[in-house]
Amino acid sequence: MNTIVRNVENTDNKEAIREAAKLLREGQVVAFPTETVYGLGGSGWMEDAADKIYEAKGRPSDNPLILHIGSMDMIQEIASYIPKLAKKAMEAFWPGPLTVILPKSDNVPNRVTGGLNSVAVRMPSHPVALALLKEAGIPVAAPSANTSGRPSPTEAEHVVEDLDGKIPMVLDGGKVEVGVESTIVDFTGDVPVILRPGKITKDELEQVLSTEVLMGTFAVKEDAVPKAPGMKYKHYAPKAQLILVLGTDREKVTEEITKRVHDCRSKGMRTGVIATEETKDAYDADEVIPVGSRKHMETVTANLYHVLREFDHRDVDMIFSEGFEGEEYEEAVMNRLAKAAGHQIIRV
Ligand code: TXA
Ligand code: MG
Repeated sequence: MNTIVRNVENTDNKEAIREAAKLLREGQVVAFPTETVYGLGGSGWMEDAADKIYEAKGRPSDNPLILHIGSMDMIQEIASYIPKLAKKAMEAFWPGPLTVILPKSDNVPNRVTGGLNSVAVRMPSHPVALALLKEAGIPVAAPSANTSGRPSPTEAEHVVEDLDGKIPMVLDGGKVEVGVESTIVDFTGDVPVILRPGKITKDELEQVLSTEVLMGTFAVKEDAVPKAPGMKYKHYAPKAQLILVLGTDREKVTEEITKRVHDCRSKGMRTGVIATEETKDAYDADEVIPVGSRKHMETVTANLYHVLREFDHRDVDMIFSEGFEGEEYEEAVMNRLAKAAGHQIIRV
């Protein structure tokens, strides 16, 4: 299959959006930008389309998909019932990087929800995503448009890197804004529970909902059944081994990483460091990449996946990363980094 890349950045490329919407309605899959990461979309009503998504990504089909909608009225067809708090959250944060888990209606194929009786729904704010969803007129099931187990794509090139030849079309909207996936909140129980941290934080949710919101446990043990099934799979893994070094004393962290870099080099290994703008000159590893600035944490979320992918091209054996604790978006960033590191974490 030839993968066509259509530029929709800076242009009001209605023709490309119409073409993509047509493919979706016909049961094909299309990659498109959202404000969080690129999604790989397929019709939310078709089992076949869900199968194509799973196949292109190499994703286990018991890992459910998020339905993306372009207008509020579609929610009635997807959910059997809308809890009051969920409605409040949707009104406050949509369109935007929030996914809500609701009780599923019978219209939604089991293939989409991996057999669960709940369904994940989100209305993205990216203008291309919204235009595509409105034009398609159907809910669009879309996981991140990466090969299963790789960092989520934040640029169209990342999608091409993973899925070239496997899907008919990529809409290229340039670099995304947020860079980490949406916050997922489960509204099917008595208390809202965050299943995946993202740009929308616990504090923001609690403020809007005027009630306590629980943080789910993300460190999933082998035998536990996580509420977001995707959390049980190894995710965001760079090709080289990644070790996360944490500590409240930043100088100690830098010292520890430097010591370990020297150690690895003496064994003939090529090393990399995921640093920050504040510390990038402090390291003498073979490859040092600043992920962003601690003073502007949105630069860290925006660049995180790109940096992880970049290290796959830098031919290193071992990567050390600084951690982010006590900063804005701490949960969102650390959740991804800890997974990328396969939970290999050192504390100094
Ligand atoms: O920002 C995002 O959410 C991006 C963009 C494309 O919208 N999408 C995304 O999808 O990250 P995906 O498939 O990579 O992650 C969806 C997560 C998985 O961990 C999945 O297990 C969980 O949502 N999920 C889906 N349906 C669920 C449900 N009914 N109950 C609990 N978790 C669910
Ligand atoms: Mg994903």
